[in-house]
Amino acid sequence: MHFSLLVFACVLCGSTLALNNGLMRTPPMGWLAWERFRCDIDCQNDPKNCISENLFMDMADRLSEDGWRELGYVYINIDDCWSSMERDENGRLQPDPKRFPGGIHKLARYMHDRGLKLGIYGDMGTHTCGGYPGTTLDKIQIDAQTFADWEVDMFKFDGCYSNATEQEQGYPLMSKALNATGRPIGYSCSWPAYVGGLPPKVNYTQLGEICNLWRNYDDIQDSWDSVLNIIDWFFDNQDALQPAAGPGRWNDPDMLIIGDFGLSLDQSRSQMALWSIMAAPLFMSNDLRTISSGAQSILQNKIAIGINQDAMGMAGRRILKEKSGIEVFWRPLSNNASALVFFSRRTDMPYRYTSSLRQLNFTTGSYKIIDVFTGKMASLKDSTDFVVSVNPSGVVMWYVSAPARMNLNHLHFDNFWHRHILIQ
Ligand code: GLA
Repeated sequence: MHFSLLVFACVLCGSTLALNNGLMRTPPMGWLAWERFRCDIDCQNDPKNCISENLFMDMADRLSEDGWRELGYVYINIDDCWSSMERDENGRLQPDPKRFPGGIHKLARYMHDRGLKLGIYGDMGTHTCGGYPGTTLDKIQIDAQTFADWEVDMFKFDGCYSNATEQEQGYPLMSKALNATGRPIGYSCSWPAYVGGLPPKVNYTQLGEICNLWRNYDDIQDSWDSVLNIIDWFFDNQDALQPAAGPGRWNDPDMLIIGDFGLSLDQSRSQMALWSIMAAPLFMSNDLRTISSGAQSILQNKIAIGINQDAMGMAGRRILKEKSGIEVFWRPLSNNASALVFFSRRTDMPYRYTSSLRQLNFTTGSYKIIDVFTGKMASLKDSTDFVVSVNPSGVVMWYVSAPARMNLNHLHFDNFWHRHILIQ
């Protein structure tokens, strides 16, 4: 009888303690190679931009010397095309010897010496999306152990070249294997993106138990079209997605492309604002060696980052879609504060949008407002009409502090969305 109890207990612990790393209580922040540097392996002709240890060391230097690390941007993540085409004689993955002559362990040390963390990439399947060796079910344990031996801090598990059945086994198995190494390794799962991103095919409760973050949807590209498409998909599906996020478990709408070629400064502010409303991971994929000061100051905006990193970890929602093309987004924050974003889909000229906090379902009281991108502050009564001027494809973003005269009902959680959902 004792024995059967023990077996029962262990079955339970196996299924509930899938991922237990205590990591990423706020959305992870850092830099990820893929969108900007892709699978450029031509180090002969393009030594500055090819996927090599030099690229990651260059970016690490920038993160630690240009004020990024102090703001929370600490992960440097390798993506596809880092490995050799063959596993080594012990069946372990190995980096391309020409492009990573020092090896991954040394690269991880380089990050750790600078107060940074190293992420790496693999693929649940026969090959990575770029055609490099994948991690089939039988290789999961050895690969998890290899990453832990290298002192890697985060692992993105892509899903090319596998079917739904293999993915259903592989993603939870990898979670357990990472846990079993004893090294805390943040776990990013691309699983949902391979099965449509929505329930019933995706079980967000299970994902929250086994992964720290997950890609729900398509790859971002360096264009406003792509960013807008991602914004549309996430907020059109917010009923399914928004509740899935919380401390240690985040939706990932993919990298920030601010500082690249496709976005204007207004569009860059829109990406920063809406990624913060979504409580999205902030992984920049840009060239930190040559980034413009305009893009840098958007990415380093302390108030936007503070909103993104709010300790309560509740994601926001779109609360209003106006015929004028203005949309309003709202995210509750700790200390009874919140964030508002006014976003314009218009393509003509700055639009003067009139509203009041009362109209946006705020309770009675006087609020302190900080305009996130101008730094201007103001006091605003719930009943007072205000006007914001929102540029085409741009945003106005506000941090709204707790009202001076508080209605205690506002503290009651179940009431939050009731009060604030103005549209479905
Ligand atoms: C997939 C992923 C991308 C990137 C590439 C690499 O498309 O979604 O984020 O990792 O593979 O090949």
